[in-house]
Amino acid sequence: MAERIGVLGAGYVGLTSAACFARLGHQVTCVDTDASKVDSLRRGQVGIEEPGLPELVVAGLRAFALDFTTGVADLSGCGVVLLCLPTPPGANGSPDLGVLEAALPGLGAVLAPGAVVVTKSTVPVGTAERLPALLGRDDVTVVSNPEFLREGHAVHDFLNPDRVVLGAGPADSAAADRVAALYEPTGATVVHTDPASAELAKYASNAFLAVKASYANVLAELCETWGADVREVGRTMGVDPRIGPHFLSPGPGWGGSCLPKDTRALLHAAETAGVGFDLVRDAMRVNERQCARMVRLARRAATGTVDGSLAGVRIGLLGLAFKAGTGDLRDSPAVAVATELARRGAELTAHDPAVTSGVDGLQLVDDPYLVAKDAAALVLLTEWPEFRDLDWPRLAAACERPVVVDTRNLLDPTMLAQSGFTCFGLGTARDRS
Ligand code: UGA
Repeated sequence: MAERIGVLGAGYVGLTSAACFARLGHQVTCVDTDASKVDSLRRGQVGIEEPGLPELVVAGLRAFALDFTTGVADLSGCGVVLLCLPTPPGANGSPDLGVLEAALPGLGAVLAPGAVVVTKSTVPVGTAERLPALLGRDDVTVVSNPEFLREGHAVHDFLNPDRVVLGAGPADSAAADRVAALYEPTGATVVHTDPASAELAKYASNAFLAVKASYANVLAELCETWGADVREVGRTMGVDPRIGPHFLSPGPGWGGSCLPKDTRALLHAAETAGVGFDLVRDAMRVNERQCARMVRLARRAATGTVDGSLAGVRIGLLGLAFKAGTGDLRDSPAVAVATELARRGAELTAHDPAVTSGVDGLQLVDDPYLVAKDAAALVLLTEWPEFRDLDWPRLAAACERPVVVDTRNLLDPTMLAQSGFTCFGLGTARDRS
Protein backbone atom coordinates (compact mmCIF):
# COMPACT_ATOMS: atom_id res chain seq x y z
CA MET A 1 0.00 0.00 0.00
CA ALA A 2 1.33 3.42 -0.95
CA GLU A 3 2.09 5.61 2.07
CA ARG A 4 2.61 9.31 2.45
CA ILE A 5 6.14 9.44 3.78
CA GLY A 6 7.93 12.44 5.25
CA VAL A 7 11.72 12.64 5.40
CA LEU A 8 13.45 15.08 7.71
CA GLY A 9 16.88 15.92 6.29
CA ALA A 10 18.08 15.86 2.68
CA GLY A 11 21.63 14.65 3.32
CA TYR A 12 22.92 11.46 1.77
CA VAL A 13 20.75 9.15 3.89
CA GLY A 14 17.62 11.33 3.72
CA LEU A 15 17.83 12.07 0.03
CA THR A 16 18.58 8.46 -0.89
CA SER A 17 15.68 7.24 1.26
CA ALA A 18 13.31 9.87 -0.16
CA ALA A 19 14.19 9.18 -3.79
CA CYS A 20 14.13 5.39 -3.34
CA PHE A 21 10.79 5.33 -1.51
CA ALA A 22 9.34 7.52 -4.29
CA ARG A 23 10.74 4.97 -6.74
CA LEU A 24 9.04 2.18 -4.76
CA GLY A 25 5.66 3.84 -5.29
CA HIS A 26 5.21 6.05 -2.23
CA GLN A 27 4.41 9.75 -2.02
CA VAL A 28 7.40 11.42 -0.38
CA THR A 29 7.94 14.90 1.02
CA CYS A 30 11.51 15.71 2.03
CA VAL A 31 12.23 18.63 4.36
CA ASP A 32 15.52 20.44 4.76
CA THR A 33 16.21 23.77 6.46
CA ASP A 34 18.74 24.73 3.76
CA ALA A 35 16.58 26.78 1.36
CA SER A 36 19.13 26.86 -1.45
CA LYS A 37 19.54 23.07 -1.30
CA VAL A 38 15.75 22.67 -1.44
CA ASP A 39 15.62 25.05 -4.43
CA SER A 40 18.24 23.03 -6.29
CA LEU A 41 16.58 19.72 -5.46
CA ARG A 42 13.23 21.02 -6.73
CA ARG A 43 15.01 21.64 -10.05
CA GLY A 44 16.42 18.12 -9.95
CA GLN A 45 19.95 19.24 -9.07
CA VAL A 46 21.57 16.86 -6.60
CA GLY A 47 24.71 18.16 -4.89
CA ILE A 48 25.82 14.70 -3.74
CA GLU A 49 28.06 12.38 -5.75
CA GLU A 50 26.00 9.18 -5.59
CA PRO A 51 25.49 6.93 -8.63
CA GLY A 52 21.86 6.77 -9.79
CA LEU A 53 20.60 9.32 -7.26
CA PRO A 54 20.15 12.32 -9.61
CA GLU A 55 18.18 10.14 -12.04
CA LEU A 56 15.89 8.88 -9.25
CA VAL A 57 15.31 12.41 -7.92
CA VAL A 58 14.39 13.69 -11.38
CA ALA A 59 12.10 10.70 -12.00
CA GLY A 60 10.41 11.24 -8.62
CA LEU A 61 9.85 14.94 -9.32
CA ARG A 62 8.46 14.25 -12.81
CA ALA A 63 6.06 11.62 -11.44
CA PHE A 64 4.95 14.07 -8.70
CA ALA A 65 5.91 11.33 -6.23
CA LEU A 66 8.64 13.42 -4.60
CA ASP A 67 8.77 17.00 -3.41
CA PHE A 68 11.11 19.15 -1.37
CA THR A 69 10.27 21.86 1.13
CA THR A 70 11.75 23.85 3.99
CA GLY A 71 8.54 23.72 5.99
CA VAL A 72 8.14 20.90 8.50
CA ALA A 73 4.40 21.70 8.56
CA ASP A 74 4.22 20.04 5.12
CA LEU A 75 4.68 16.70 6.90
CA SER A 76 1.34 17.01 8.68
CA GLY A 77 -0.37 14.57 6.33
CA CYS A 78 2.36 11.90 6.48
CA GLY A 79 1.69 8.54 8.10
CA VAL A 80 5.38 7.72 8.41
CA VAL A 81 8.20 10.23 9.01
CA LEU A 82 11.88 9.27 8.72
CA LEU A 83 14.43 11.14 10.83
CA CYS A 84 17.56 11.51 8.71
CA LEU A 85 19.28 14.41 10.44
CA PRO A 86 23.04 14.55 11.03
CA THR A 87 24.44 13.33 14.36
CA PRO A 88 28.08 14.48 14.06
CA PRO A 89 30.66 13.63 16.71
CA GLY A 90 30.82 15.96 19.69
CA ALA A 91 34.05 16.88 21.47
CA ASN A 92 34.34 13.63 23.46
CA GLY A 93 33.36 11.37 20.57
CA SER A 94 29.74 10.93 21.58
CA PRO A 95 27.24 12.02 18.90
CA ASP A 96 25.93 15.54 19.03
CA LEU A 97 22.15 15.23 18.91
CA GLY A 98 21.63 19.01 18.87
CA VAL A 99 20.22 19.24 15.33
CA LEU A 100 17.92 16.27 15.86
CA GLU A 101 16.66 17.40 19.23
CA ALA A 102 16.08 20.95 18.01
CA ALA A 103 13.89 19.69 15.17
CA LEU A 104 11.69 17.38 17.24
CA PRO A 105 9.31 19.78 19.01
CA GLY A 106 8.42 21.39 15.65
CA LEU A 107 7.81 17.98 14.12
CA GLY A 108 5.79 16.88 17.15
CA ALA A 109 3.55 19.88 16.71
CA VAL A 110 2.50 18.90 13.18
CA LEU A 111 2.57 15.08 13.18
CA ALA A 112 -0.69 13.39 12.24
CA PRO A 113 -2.36 11.47 15.09
CA GLY A 114 -0.93 7.95 15.32
CA ALA A 115 1.95 8.66 12.92
CA VAL A 116 5.03 6.42 12.96
CA VAL A 117 8.39 8.15 13.48
CA VAL A 118 11.34 6.19 12.13
CA THR A 119 14.92 6.90 13.26
CA LYS A 120 17.37 6.34 10.43
CA SER A 121 20.08 8.65 11.81
CA THR A 122 22.77 6.84 13.79
CA VAL A 123 21.82 7.57 17.38
CA PRO A 124 22.96 6.37 20.83
CA VAL A 125 21.21 3.43 22.43
CA GLY A 126 18.15 4.69 24.27
CA THR A 127 17.29 7.50 21.83
CA ALA A 128 14.13 5.84 20.46
CA GLU A 129 12.83 5.55 23.99
CA ARG A 130 13.33 9.28 24.58
CA LEU A 131 11.74 10.41 21.32
CA PRO A 132 8.04 10.58 22.30
CA ALA A 133 8.91 12.98 25.13
CA LEU A 134 11.16 15.05 22.85
CA LEU A 135 8.38 15.18 20.26
CA GLY A 136 5.91 16.09 23.00
CA ARG A 137 3.57 13.33 21.77
CA ASP A 138 2.45 10.12 23.38
CA ASP A 139 0.23 8.97 20.51
CA VAL A 140 3.04 8.46 17.98
CA THR A 141 5.08 5.28 17.70
CA VAL A 142 8.84 5.20 17.24
CA VAL A 143 10.57 2.55 15.17
CA SER A 144 14.36 2.38 15.02
CA ASN A 145 15.52 1.61 11.46
CA PRO A 146 19.30 2.14 11.24
CA GLU A 147 20.73 2.51 7.76
CA PHE A 148 23.57 0.40 6.40
CA LEU A 149 24.10 2.23 3.10
CA ARG A 150 27.62 2.50 1.78
CA GLU A 151 28.66 5.78 0.24
CA GLY A 152 28.99 5.39 -3.51
CA HIS A 153 26.51 2.47 -3.46
CA ALA A 154 23.68 4.08 -1.51
CA VAL A 155 20.94 3.68 -4.14
CA HIS A 156 21.95 0.11 -4.89
CA ASP A 157 22.12 -0.74 -1.17
CA PHE A 158 18.75 0.87 -0.48
CA LEU A 159 16.98 -1.01 -3.25
CA ASN A 160 18.84 -4.29 -2.59
CA PRO A 161 19.42 -4.32 1.18
CA ASP A 162 20.95 -7.39 2.78
CA ARG A 163 18.79 -6.67 5.81
CA VAL A 164 16.29 -4.13 7.07
CA VAL A 165 16.48 -3.76 10.84
CA LEU A 166 13.35 -2.59 12.66
CA GLY A 167 13.42 -1.98 16.39
CA ALA A 168 10.07 -1.48 18.07
CA GLY A 169 8.66 -1.94 21.55
CA PRO A 170 6.47 -4.96 22.35
CA ALA A 171 3.29 -2.93 21.93
CA ASP A 172 4.44 -1.42 18.62
CA SER A 173 4.63 -4.42 16.31
CA ALA A 174 1.89 -2.99 14.05
CA ALA A 175 4.02 0.12 13.47
CA ALA A 176 7.06 -2.05 12.71
CA ASP A 177 4.97 -4.08 10.22
CA ARG A 178 3.84 -0.84 8.60
CA VAL A 179 7.48 0.20 8.10
CA ALA A 180 8.42 -3.32 6.93
CA ALA A 181 5.73 -3.06 4.25
CA LEU A 182 7.49 -0.01 2.80
CA TYR A 183 10.51 -2.16 2.03
CA GLU A 184 8.53 -5.14 0.76
CA PRO A 185 9.31 -4.59 -2.96
CA THR A 186 13.04 -4.87 -2.19
CA GLY A 187 12.57 -8.45 -0.97
CA ALA A 188 14.89 -7.70 1.94
CA THR A 189 15.24 -9.89 5.00
CA VAL A 190 13.57 -7.94 7.79
CA VAL A 191 15.05 -8.29 11.25
CA HIS A 192 12.45 -7.39 13.86
CA THR A 193 13.97 -6.51 17.20
CA ASP A 194 13.70 -4.07 20.09
CA PRO A 195 14.78 -0.43 19.68
CA ALA A 196 17.91 -0.62 21.86
CA SER A 197 19.21 -3.67 19.98
CA ALA A 198 18.56 -2.01 16.63
CA GLU A 199 20.42 1.13 17.73
CA LEU A 200 23.37 -0.86 19.04
CA ALA A 201 23.45 -3.11 15.94
CA LYS A 202 24.36 -0.08 13.84
CA TYR A 203 27.36 0.89 15.98
CA ALA A 204 28.34 -2.73 16.45
CA SER A 205 28.35 -3.35 12.69
CA ASN A 206 30.51 -0.35 11.82
CA ALA A 207 32.92 -1.01 14.69
CA PHE A 208 33.19 -4.67 13.68
CA LEU A 209 34.07 -3.62 10.11
CA ALA A 210 36.72 -1.30 11.52
CA VAL A 211 38.16 -4.11 13.63
CA LYS A 212 38.20 -6.39 10.60
CA ALA A 213 40.01 -3.85 8.40
CA SER A 214 42.57 -3.12 11.14
CA TYR A 215 43.08 -6.85 11.57
CA ALA A 216 43.88 -7.08 7.86
CA ASN A 217 46.34 -4.21 8.17
CA VAL A 218 48.23 -5.94 10.99
CA LEU A 219 48.16 -9.22 9.06
CA ALA A 220 49.71 -7.36 6.12
CA GLU A 221 52.62 -6.31 8.32
CA LEU A 222 53.12 -9.89 9.44
CA CYS A 223 52.99 -11.10 5.84
CA GLU A 224 55.76 -8.69 4.92
CA THR A 225 57.86 -10.01 7.80
CA TRP A 226 57.23 -13.68 7.11
CA GLY A 227 57.05 -13.69 3.30
CA ALA A 228 53.34 -14.53 3.09
CA ASP A 229 50.85 -12.73 0.86
CA VAL A 230 47.96 -11.02 2.65
CA ARG A 231 45.69 -11.43 -0.38
CA GLU A 232 46.18 -15.19 -0.20
CA VAL A 233 45.67 -15.21 3.56
CA GLY A 234 42.47 -13.15 3.21
CA ARG A 235 41.20 -15.32 0.35
CA THR A 236 41.79 -18.43 2.42
CA MET A 237 40.16 -17.01 5.56
CA GLY A 238 37.23 -15.66 3.59
CA VAL A 239 36.13 -19.08 2.37
CA ASP A 240 35.03 -19.80 5.94
CA PRO A 241 31.44 -18.47 6.09
CA ARG A 242 31.96 -17.56 9.73
CA ILE A 243 34.59 -15.03 8.62
CA GLY A 244 33.53 -14.04 5.09
CA PRO A 245 35.71 -12.54 2.36
CA HIS A 246 34.87 -8.86 2.81
CA PHE A 247 36.77 -6.17 4.65
CA LEU A 248 39.99 -8.15 4.69
CA SER A 249 41.90 -5.93 2.27
CA PRO A 250 44.75 -3.92 3.74
CA GLY A 251 44.90 -0.26 2.87
CA PRO A 252 46.11 3.12 4.10
CA GLY A 253 43.54 2.90 6.92
CA TRP A 254 39.77 3.06 7.21
CA GLY A 255 38.11 6.43 7.00
CA GLY A 256 35.04 8.28 5.80
CA SER A 257 32.22 9.93 7.65
CA CYS A 258 30.99 6.80 9.46
CA LEU A 259 33.53 4.21 10.64
CA PRO A 260 35.82 6.64 12.52
CA LYS A 261 32.84 8.50 14.04
CA ASP A 262 30.94 5.38 15.06
CA THR A 263 33.93 3.57 16.56
CA ARG A 264 34.72 6.65 18.68
CA ALA A 265 31.09 6.93 19.74
CA LEU A 266 30.79 3.25 20.67
CA LEU A 267 34.03 3.32 22.63
CA HIS A 268 32.97 6.44 24.49
CA ALA A 269 29.52 5.06 25.28
CA ALA A 270 30.97 1.71 26.41
CA GLU A 271 33.50 3.37 28.70
CA THR A 272 30.85 5.71 30.10
CA ALA A 273 28.84 2.59 30.91
CA GLY A 274 31.89 1.14 32.66
CA VAL A 275 32.58 -1.48 30.00
CA GLY A 276 36.09 -1.40 28.52
CA PHE A 277 36.12 -2.12 24.79
CA ASP A 278 39.86 -2.44 24.20
CA LEU A 279 39.27 -4.38 21.01
CA VAL A 280 37.74 -1.30 19.39
CA ARG A 281 40.35 1.00 20.95
CA ASP A 282 43.12 -1.16 19.49
CA ALA A 283 41.50 -1.11 16.05
CA MET A 284 41.58 2.68 16.26
CA ARG A 285 45.23 2.65 17.37
CA VAL A 286 46.17 0.36 14.49
CA ASN A 287 44.42 2.78 12.17
CA GLU A 288 46.49 5.71 13.43
CA ARG A 289 49.64 3.64 13.16
CA GLN A 290 48.71 2.76 9.58
CA CYS A 291 49.06 6.37 8.50
CA ALA A 292 52.57 6.53 9.98
CA ARG A 293 53.39 3.24 8.26
CA MET A 294 52.25 4.61 4.87
CA VAL A 295 54.43 7.68 5.38
CA ARG A 296 57.42 5.47 6.19
CA LEU A 297 56.81 3.40 3.05
CA ALA A 298 56.51 6.52 0.91
CA ARG A 299 59.67 7.93 2.43
CA ARG A 300 61.63 4.77 1.79
CA ALA A 301 60.31 4.60 -1.77
CA ALA A 302 61.05 8.24 -2.55
CA THR A 303 64.45 8.58 -0.87
CA GLY A 304 65.74 5.01 -1.12
CA THR A 305 66.44 4.92 2.65
CA VAL A 306 64.31 4.54 5.78
CA ASP A 307 65.44 7.86 7.23
CA GLY A 308 65.97 9.99 4.14
CA SER A 309 64.78 13.59 4.27
CA LEU A 310 61.61 14.39 2.38
CA ALA A 311 62.36 18.10 2.21
CA GLY A 312 61.85 19.23 -1.39
CA VAL A 313 61.26 15.65 -2.61
CA ARG A 314 58.55 15.45 -5.28
CA ILE A 315 55.92 12.78 -4.66
CA GLY A 316 52.90 12.09 -6.87
CA LEU A 317 49.68 10.93 -5.21
CA LEU A 318 47.00 8.89 -6.97
CA GLY A 319 43.74 9.24 -5.04
CA LEU A 320 42.65 11.42 -2.13
CA ALA A 321 39.10 10.23 -1.36
CA PHE A 322 38.63 7.83 1.57
CA LYS A 323 37.64 5.09 -0.87
CA ALA A 324 36.88 4.73 -4.57
CA GLY A 325 33.49 5.73 -5.94
CA THR A 326 33.23 8.93 -3.93
CA GLY A 327 34.87 12.34 -3.74
CA ASP A 328 34.41 12.40 0.04
CA LEU A 329 37.49 13.63 1.86
CA ARG A 330 36.09 13.39 5.39
CA ASP A 331 38.49 11.48 7.62
CA SER A 332 40.25 10.26 4.50
CA PRO A 333 43.41 8.27 5.27
CA ALA A 334 44.79 9.48 1.93
CA VAL A 335 44.51 13.08 3.10
CA ALA A 336 46.14 12.16 6.44
CA VAL A 337 49.10 10.62 4.58
CA ALA A 338 49.34 13.64 2.25
CA THR A 339 49.24 16.05 5.19
CA GLU A 340 52.05 14.22 6.98
CA LEU A 341 54.21 14.02 3.83
CA ALA A 342 53.67 17.77 3.25
CA ARG A 343 54.55 18.49 6.89
CA ARG A 344 57.87 16.76 6.29
CA GLY A 345 58.58 19.03 3.33
CA ALA A 346 57.58 16.78 0.41
CA GLU A 347 56.31 18.58 -2.68
CA LEU A 348 53.06 16.86 -3.54
CA THR A 349 51.07 16.68 -6.74
CA ALA A 350 47.82 14.73 -6.57
CA HIS A 351 45.08 13.48 -8.84
CA ASP A 352 41.73 12.02 -7.83
CA PRO A 353 38.99 11.54 -10.44
CA ALA A 354 36.31 12.81 -8.03
CA VAL A 355 38.18 15.56 -6.17
CA THR A 356 38.68 19.05 -7.57
CA SER A 357 39.42 21.01 -4.38
CA GLY A 358 39.53 20.83 -0.62
CA VAL A 359 43.05 19.68 0.25
CA ASP A 360 45.75 22.11 1.37
CA GLY A 361 49.49 21.67 0.96
CA LEU A 362 49.47 20.04 -2.44
CA GLN A 363 48.91 20.75 -6.09
CA LEU A 364 45.76 19.09 -7.39
CA VAL A 365 45.82 18.24 -11.10
CA ASP A 366 43.14 17.04 -13.55
CA ASP A 367 45.62 15.08 -15.61
CA PRO A 368 46.88 11.92 -13.85
CA TYR A 369 50.08 11.97 -15.90
CA LEU A 370 51.11 15.28 -14.34
CA VAL A 371 51.50 13.63 -10.92
CA ALA A 372 54.43 11.65 -12.28
CA LYS A 373 56.36 14.63 -13.60
CA ASP A 374 59.84 14.45 -12.03
CA ALA A 375 58.43 12.47 -9.10
CA ALA A 376 60.77 10.54 -6.82
CA ALA A 377 57.87 8.15 -6.12
CA LEU A 378 54.18 7.65 -6.78
CA VAL A 379 51.86 6.69 -3.93
CA LEU A 380 48.49 5.16 -4.83
CA LEU A 381 46.08 5.86 -1.96
CA THR A 382 42.55 5.30 -3.30
CA GLU A 383 41.52 2.16 -5.17
CA TRP A 384 40.01 3.83 -8.26
CA PRO A 385 39.85 1.03 -10.88
CA GLU A 386 40.76 3.48 -13.65
CA PHE A 387 44.25 3.80 -12.18
CA ARG A 388 44.87 0.27 -13.49
CA ASP A 389 44.25 1.50 -17.03
CA LEU A 390 46.74 4.36 -16.96
CA ASP A 391 49.63 4.22 -19.41
CA TRP A 392 52.16 3.01 -16.84
CA PRO A 393 55.19 3.08 -19.19
CA ARG A 394 54.34 6.74 -19.84
CA LEU A 395 54.14 7.38 -16.08
CA ALA A 396 57.49 5.61 -15.60
CA ALA A 397 59.09 7.77 -18.25
CA ALA A 398 57.84 10.94 -16.54
CA CYS A 399 59.10 9.97 -13.07
CA GLU A 400 62.54 10.89 -11.83
CA ARG A 401 62.58 7.50 -10.09
CA PRO A 402 59.94 5.01 -11.26
CA VAL A 403 58.84 3.69 -7.88
CA VAL A 404 55.23 3.20 -6.82
CA VAL A 405 53.79 2.49 -3.38
CA ASP A 406 50.49 0.73 -3.98
CA THR A 407 48.71 1.02 -0.62
CA ARG A 408 45.61 -0.75 -2.04
CA ASN A 409 47.32 -3.65 -3.85
CA LEU A 410 45.36 -2.46 -6.88
CA LEU A 411 47.98 -2.73 -9.57
CA ASP A 412 49.37 -5.81 -11.27
CA PRO A 413 53.03 -6.18 -10.20
CA THR A 414 54.01 -7.89 -13.46
CA MET A 415 52.52 -5.05 -15.52
CA LEU A 416 54.34 -2.54 -13.32
CA ALA A 417 57.65 -4.34 -13.68
CA GLN A 418 57.21 -4.47 -17.45
CA SER A 419 56.47 -0.75 -17.39
CA GLY A 420 59.75 -0.09 -15.60
CA PHE A 421 58.39 0.45 -12.08
CA THR A 422 59.64 -0.88 -8.78
CA CYS A 423 56.53 -1.51 -6.69
CA PHE A 424 55.91 -1.66 -2.96
CA GLY A 425 52.57 -3.22 -2.00
CA LEU A 426 51.04 -4.00 1.39
CA GLY A 427 51.38 -7.46 2.84
CA THR A 428 53.23 -8.84 -0.13
CA ALA A 429 56.93 -9.25 -0.79
CA ARG A 430 58.18 -5.71 -0.15
CA ASP A 431 59.54 -5.09 -3.60
CA ARG A 432 57.01 -6.63 -5.93
CA SER A 433 58.94 -5.93 -9.13
C1 UGA B 1 30.09 2.35 6.17
C2 UGA B 1 29.40 0.98 6.28
O1 UGA B 1 30.05 0.05 5.40
C3 UGA B 1 27.91 1.08 5.89
O2 UGA B 1 27.27 -0.17 6.09
C4 UGA B 1 27.26 2.14 6.80
O3 UGA B 1 25.88 2.33 6.48
C5 UGA B 1 27.97 3.46 6.61
O4 UGA B 1 29.37 3.30 6.97
C6 UGA B 1 27.31 4.46 7.53
O5 UGA B 1 27.37 4.28 8.75
O6 UGA B 1 26.62 5.37 7.04
P1 UGA B 1 31.07 3.82 4.16
O7 UGA B 1 31.41 4.88 5.15
O8 UGA B 1 30.44 4.23 2.88
O9 UGA B 1 30.06 2.73 4.79
O10 UGA B 1 32.45 3.09 3.85
P2 UGA B 1 32.94 1.57 3.66
O11 UGA B 1 32.68 1.11 2.30
O12 UGA B 1 32.44 0.75 4.79
O13 UGA B 1 34.52 1.78 3.83
C7 UGA B 1 35.05 2.34 5.04
C8 UGA B 1 36.55 2.41 5.01
O14 UGA B 1 37.12 1.10 5.16
C9 UGA B 1 37.16 2.97 3.73
O15 UGA B 1 38.18 3.88 4.06
C10 UGA B 1 37.69 1.74 3.02
O16 UGA B 1 38.74 2.03 2.13
C11 UGA B 1 38.16 0.92 4.21
N1 UGA B 1 38.30 -0.53 3.91
C12 UGA B 1 37.24 -1.25 3.48
C13 UGA B 1 39.52 -1.15 4.08
O17 UGA B 1 40.52 -0.50 4.46
N2 UGA B 1 39.64 -2.49 3.82
C14 UGA B 1 38.58 -3.23 3.39
O18 UGA B 1 38.76 -4.44 3.17
C15 UGA B 1 37.35 -2.59 3.22
